[in-house]
Amino acid sequence: MHMTDDKTEIQSEDRLLTVRDLTVNFTTDDGTFTAADGISFHIDKGENVGLVGESGCGKTVTALSIPRLIPSPPGNIDSGEIWFDGRNIMSMNPEQMMDIRGRAISMIFQEPLSALSPLHRIGRQMTETLLLHQDISKKEAWQFAEQWLHKVGLPDASDRMFAYPFQLSGGMQQRIMIAMALMLAPQLVIADEPTTALDVTTQAQVFELIKAMKKKDASMLLITHDMGVVWEMCERILVMYASRIVESGSREDIFSNPKHPYTIGLLSAIPKLSGERTELKDIPGQVPSPFDYPKGCHFEKRCPFSIERCKTENPSFYACGNGHHAACFLLADK
Ligand SMILES: Nc1ncnc2c1ncn2[C@@H]1O[C@H](COP(=O)(O)OP(=O)(O)OP(=O)(O)O)[C@@H](O)[C@H]1O
Ligand SMILES: [Mg+2]
Repeated sequence: MHMTDDKTEIQSEDRLLTVRDLTVNFTTDDGTFTAADGISFHIDKGENVGLVGESGCGKTVTALSIPRLIPSPPGNIDSGEIWFDGRNIMSMNPEQMMDIRGRAISMIFQEPLSALSPLHRIGRQMTETLLLHQDISKKEAWQFAEQWLHKVGLPDASDRMFAYPFQLSGGMQQRIMIAMALMLAPQLVIADEPTTALDVTTQAQVFELIKAMKKKDASMLLITHDMGVVWEMCERILVMYASRIVESGSREDIFSNPKHPYTIGLLSAIPKLSGERTELKDIPGQVPSPFDYPKGCHFEKRCPFSIERCKTENPSFYACGNGHHAACFLLADK
């Protein structure tokens, strides 16, 4: 299938990440459901890729699978391949995974306090992370950490090194988390709704910061509900709906020539006024429960263009040119 890649592509110079046919299931008291269903995508070196879609569609589950951070139980990666810089992530031992996490792949979460320990001062947390991955002295680590607090624009950085997270504002905590995520010069930054908790002005600053501070050849997977942010930050976009990727392509193709009815709906749900927040919420109908995903296309019940086939068959990806793909039967035989 054209969304997957052969071995040569996995190991090509430009390729950083290849995810193939990833399926993640959760087993809860109510039964088992599939949160990520046959997910395939790639990220090249230096590329910023946006992952968008309504709440609950499986964006975070997809992202957490890459550094193998799916809580298990209840979750489990049931099938699929994840290749990072030519190496097979799924066959790595815990020690190799520890090394990859934080150093080669780092994550920026929505909630800074989930990444910062409440019990330790900022300086200690940052230096411990540095010492874990780099062969430097404690003093060097301290200085390096302090420089990073300066770089991310934290006022009074040398004093803040002695602060506990709760003594700082949400914006400051976010900056510290970004410093911690970027100071080890990761090859891949996964940012999952990194600014949702912040006010609009701070949000814009934080995005500028991530863009400016990550290495030029580093890649980013950015998860957001905000199509405006994706337009600003990403060159390529993956659109997810109810556990599946339904469309992928360059940001220009996705914005000006969307093919999947879900993507078309998402874009028409964007308010016209520029500068306003662009939450995705106004497509009629509701996302089905993951326990109750339909047999065919998951968007079928909400789709204004649904045909008989959509009810029973899961559409595969159709190529629309220039690496643009959409999983919709409307594109068949065209
Ligand atoms: N630890 C967990 N235990 C049980 N179910 C989970 C767990 N984590 C995620 N899920 C379920 O998996 C599905 C996908 O969740 P996920 O968090 O990936 O959605 P999302 O697209 O990131 O949504 P949001 O935009 O709200 O962050 C949801 O139905 C969610 O309830
Ligand atoms: Mg999420």
